Amino acid sequence: MKRVLHLGLTLCAGVSAVACSQQGRAPEVSQRESAGLAEIPTNPDTRIIVSLTAQQRLHVLEEMNQFLLSTQEIVEGLSSDDPELVQSAVADSLGRNQGQSQGQGLMKGALPSEFRQMGSAMKQEFKKVETLSKSGADSAQILEQLSSTLMYCQSCHGTYQIHLTEAP
Ligand code: HEC
Repeated sequence: MKRVLHLGLTLCAGVSAVACSQQGRAPEVSQRESAGLAEIPTNPDTRIIVSLTAQQRLHVLEEMNQFLLSTQEIVEGLSSDDPELVQSAVADSLGRNQGQSQGQGLMKGALPSEFRQMGSAMKQEFKKVETLSKSGADSAQILEQLSSTLMYCQSCHGTYQIHLTEAP
């Protein structure tokens, strides 16, 4: 990340402000120009759009970052032969420790049903990691199950993007 940033700055230092803004941030445009641009579909991202409020989006992204953290902890638990860490990481990924109902009111009706189904299917896969760990399965078996779990992350990320709902 830092290296990329540094490279961008170096390139910008040698060229004009216009060329520079084209490389990095979108250049600012006048009112008239931006009205014209708004009619052009510029978003090359063709994944299905899930429209959320800023608060709902934050809730989803916090959950996502918990999934990533749990994944890291499961790998660490396996590499250091620490089944307790593996199991507590699964519990965190399922939201067991902060009460599942926390986001239910906030998220009510906000997510498409296929999205929710993919999310719960992924959680079932996380539970299998826990079951294997509790039954004393070896790390290779648990890693294989983790790999199946991660395929759901990959598949959902390839299918959906989040947009903010337009302010009324
Ligand atoms: C049911 C769908 C779904 C599943 C399953 C899913 N994600 Fe996500 N995730 C998303 C969406 C949608 C975004 C936002 C993408 C966007 O708008 O560009 C996201 C974003 C993220 C982000 C970025 C968070 C941020 O702060 O910007 C991380 C990290 C992430 N997911 C990790 C994971 C991991 C790890 C898994 C699996 C263990 C996972 N996700 C499973 C849908 C999902």
